Amino acid sequence: MSSKQKTYYIHTFGCQSNKSDSERIAGDYEARGYSEAKAWQDCDELVINTCAIRKRAEDKVLGLVQNILKHFRESDKPRPKLILTGCMTHHANERLYELLPDIDEILPINEVGFNQAAVRKDKKHAWIPISVGCNSYCTYCIVPYSRGREKSRDEADIMNEVQRLVDQGYNEITLLGMNVNSWGLEKVGVPMRKMMMEDDNFTREDLPDNQTQYLTSTDTPPFVRLLQNITKFDQIIKIRFMSSNPWDFHDELIEEIGNNKKIDRYVHLPIQSGSNDVLYRMNRGYTVEKYLAVVNKLRALDSDVVIGTDIIVGFPGETNEEFNETVELAKKIDWKVGFVAIYSPRPGTASWRLYKEDEIPHKIKKKRWEILDKIINKDNMSDRPKVI
Ligand code: 5AD
Ligand code: SF4
Repeated sequence: MSSKQKTYYIHTFGCQSNKSDSERIAGDYEARGYSEAKAWQDCDELVINTCAIRKRAEDKVLGLVQNILKHFRESDKPRPKLILTGCMTHHANERLYELLPDIDEILPINEVGFNQAAVRKDKKHAWIPISVGCNSYCTYCIVPYSRGREKSRDEADIMNEVQRLVDQGYNEITLLGMNVNSWGLEKVGVPMRKMMMEDDNFTREDLPDNQTQYLTSTDTPPFVRLLQNITKFDQIIKIRFMSSNPWDFHDELIEEIGNNKKIDRYVHLPIQSGSNDVLYRMNRGYTVEKYLAVVNKLRALDSDVVIGTDIIVGFPGETNEEFNETVELAKKIDWKVGFVAIYSPRPGTASWRLYKEDEIPHKIKKKRWEILDKIINKDNMSDRPKVI
């Protein structure tokens, strides 16, 4: 008599990178003979893939864990093995320590590597990770701490995965990474940014005035070469990528998007703020003018290109005037979609340390969120993002 097949269930929070990681975690389980349970109430192993981008995201994870524990306290079934992975599991996350007594295992975020075969639900479109981590240290962002240094996946491994997907009948792909445009360039001398940001003596004056670490290449950027190589597969009809950032959105990339119609006409390009002073305090390393130049070049090459963005409202010290600059820019640029987020201080980040006393009251943040969300997303109520 064979024993019952063991089951797993994965609950995924957060961004597309987490969803892609979960596909590979599922692949790892299936390679070990597990099958997917229909619900978390009925599994042997329950993985929670966490998000730490804002406090609200962490609260959702904590809420789910409480629900799970309560459910099994009141049930006669044994509790499944509880495994936590994702961005909340990075070192020194105090909220994680509150949970630890009830967690059976922490799965380090990069342990299931790039090349683990993924289990994909979608049979036409596939997410392909091309890099992990981030070197940019935007002052508000937890990602460089939670996901570590930027690391590009080998080109041969990416191309092998595309080939396998094509063989399985896929024809649309999205290349994933925190900074896809710098794929293959991260070794070009990253300044000592990590040390700067984690040094308690670091002050506002030490903020660099640009994001220079990716801009040293004078040749065709490796990411553009990668897009061209993937385009050669006849079966691939649509290529998307995310996320991009303005500092390494090179002219060659703009031209490639203009000329290569397999690349989706929707380009996601986070601006974060329409005020140069706020951008500086965020360590974004570009100006509104530089962002506008990228948008204008894209639109000049192909008027079908549409742009979407991410914006944070209520960054510490954001004045009414600075917020209004973002509002005016939104009216001018006409983004197709804008993921507007309320600033959430993330313990350990530079803005949390540098700008504690400049925190904006929640009521004002909320008001700004409503104003901006309405301006950017009013015409697309159906696909309206709800990120607060
Ligand atoms: N507070 C609010 N929004 C944030 N984002 C990243 N960090 C924070 C934070 N601390 C937003 C940015 C980013 C998106 C993924 O999440 O807009 O582009
Ligand atoms: Fe965070 Fe900035 Fe890196 Fe994006 S580029 S993941 S916002 S630090």
